Amino acid sequence: MLWLWIVLGILLVAAILYWQLVIAEGSYLGPRVVALLYDWAAPTYERIKGFDPETEQWFLGLPLAMALERIPDPFVLDVGTGTGRLPRALCFQPGFRGQVVGVDLSRRMLAQAVHLLRPYADRVTLIWQDARALPFPDNTFDAVTSLEMLEFTPNPRAVLEEMVRVLRPGGVLLVTHRVGRDAPLLPGRAFSRQKFVDMLGKLPLENIRTQYWQVDYDLVWARKTGRPVGGGVRPLAEVLRCPDCGQTGMAEMGEAYRCRRCGRVYPVAPDGVVEMVRGSR
Ligand SMILES: C[S@@+](CC[C@H](N)C(=O)[O-])C[C@H]1O[C@@H](n2cnc3c(N)ncnc32)[C@H](O)[C@@H]1O
Repeated sequence: MLWLWIVLGILLVAAILYWQLVIAEGSYLGPRVVALLYDWAAPTYERIKGFDPETEQWFLGLPLAMALERIPDPFVLDVGTGTGRLPRALCFQPGFRGQVVGVDLSRRMLAQAVHLLRPYADRVTLIWQDARALPFPDNTFDAVTSLEMLEFTPNPRAVLEEMVRVLRPGGVLLVTHRVGRDAPLLPGRAFSRQKFVDMLGKLPLENIRTQYWQVDYDLVWARKTGRPVGGGVRPLAEVLRCPDCGQTGMAEMGEAYRCRRCGRVYPVAPDGVVEMVRGSR
């Protein structure tokens, strides 16, 4: 009888590990674990996902470029950019002449992004930073996007708030909403369609529209309320906000950015990634 209990125990542990590490991708174990798992997966991520460039254009690049067509040089933030899927789809669009900033917590995913975004290197900046504290002031970007990331953060609602904070009035929000078979296995991370829309409705957003997209994800579009003002690309040094002291505006020092108030230095790695998580005095 003892062997039966041992087998059941092993099966239970295997099921818990599968749930925590494969389905939830470490999200209940904290952002560091999520980033570590993505660091391991980075070299094979694109192969596993098998993105079809034409589908990516049709559902992501083209509609986003069209939503931004009134702004001559839109400034776009992609949160949890991974290997640069969204910046690639957007920069490929002939009608898009703006700049994209991509933020991610996995350094190796960003290293892959650097490689894959080489044709658009002058239009994309990559930042190594946690989405829970976006290093930008309020009302900065014309569009904020986040694909397949929210459910891997400890508090998706707070991350949404953070994304809306840095979006300027009139700007476009494009996020994915986790649905499908595994969604019920992600309590507190994935929500019913109605609950997700209600959550967005409590933020300063209007024209919230859900679009069925993939088996596991809907696309959700919205606009930030308020009168549109300004818009367009701004120099990174002008909009970088120090995660340590909250000061906006940094001195550009070639291979680093230095906070003008607290003096903290944020290095720029040889591959061009701004390493906010490695800030030091
Ligand atoms: C499934 S991938 C999606 C990547 C890309 N958006 C795409 O659609 O291919 C999730 C990404 O979110 C990133 N991520 C997870 N939690 C994060 C956090 N707290 N801050 C920043 N990035 C995070 C991971 O490192 C990973 O690159």
